[in-house]
Amino acid sequence: MPLLSVTPQEFEVRLKQTALAVDRLLDELLPALPGNRLREAMRYSVLGQGKRLRPFLVVESARLFGVDEMQAMRVGAALEALHCYSLAHDDLPAMDNDDLRRGQPTVHRKFDEATAILAGDGLLTWAFEILSDVATHPNADVRIELVAALATAAGESGMVGGQMLDILAETEDFENYQAIARMQAGKTGALFRFACEAGAILALADSSELRQYADDIGLAFQIADDILDVESTADAMGKATQKDSDKGKSTFVDLLGLEGARLEAKNLVRRAAGYLKVYGDKAAMLNATAQFIIARQK
Ligand code: IPE
Ligand code: IPE
Ligand code: MG
Ligand code: MG
Ligand code: MG
Repeated sequence: MPLLSVTPQEFEVRLKQTALAVDRLLDELLPALPGNRLREAMRYSVLGQGKRLRPFLVVESARLFGVDEMQAMRVGAALEALHCYSLAHDDLPAMDNDDLRRGQPTVHRKFDEATAILAGDGLLTWAFEILSDVATHPNADVRIELVAALATAAGESGMVGGQMLDILAETEDFENYQAIARMQAGKTGALFRFACEAGAILALADSSELRQYADDIGLAFQIADDILDVESTADAMGKATQKDSDKGKSTFVDLLGLEGARLEAKNLVRRAAGYLKVYGDKAAMLNATAQFIIARQK
């Protein structure tokens, strides 16, 4: 664990600064096109009040290796666009059928279902356009590696595969640790893994420790989401709560109970911090991020 520590307040300030910078970059890369419904829906989806935690992880991991900040920010923006596509589709009637996201109507409620599907498709493909642009990295091998890593994280063996398991978990028996962990690692963990390995890819450095850190915080993040689904309110979260039990979804809260799930998330965060040892004090902000993931209220 790093010796230097970052207080929760210092962490919040840094997260806020990065979130504002991500918002500015997304706004600049995807400017408004008056009268263009698809662009309007894409901007609506991506410019909402998200925590911007995935771009934050990209930027902070990249900082370990002294990567150019704009390169890291572009990768963070691409990842956030892809994340917002996953949310727009996750909220659709055919999936979680949600009306509220980030305190606003979901994309299909604000526009319509077809537009929400297309806005998601637009954001997904745009993410790869950003990564493959020379402004993201001058070395084409690095750009290809970023594209391949994000495709793996987002696709069948990552987020999309996890979302399939999540839907199956409504009707099939997933009541064991391994099955639930596999679903969570896909639907949530895979994008966290990309967020943490991207900095190393940009620096042509080894990412094995960061990937292990990411796998643990990704799982802890989803456990926290499932706990908040039970304990929090739509007002605090900006999205509906009590959805998982209503739908009969298998989560760690079902399997371990609230206290058991809390303990599991805490243990994962402790183990995650251990993987940061090799980076010494430089990893203090990543250590604080792991703590935030289980302490957060939204
Ligand atoms: C929500 O992610 C989807 C999950 C993987 C649980 P976040 O909690 O990061 O949502 P935003 O981006 O802050 O809205
Ligand atoms: C969503 O998980 C994960 C992805 C969008 C890939 P959830 O369905 O639990 O997320 P929320 O609770 O709607 O944000
Ligand atoms: Mg879902
Ligand atoms: Mg959902
Ligand atoms: Mg949830």
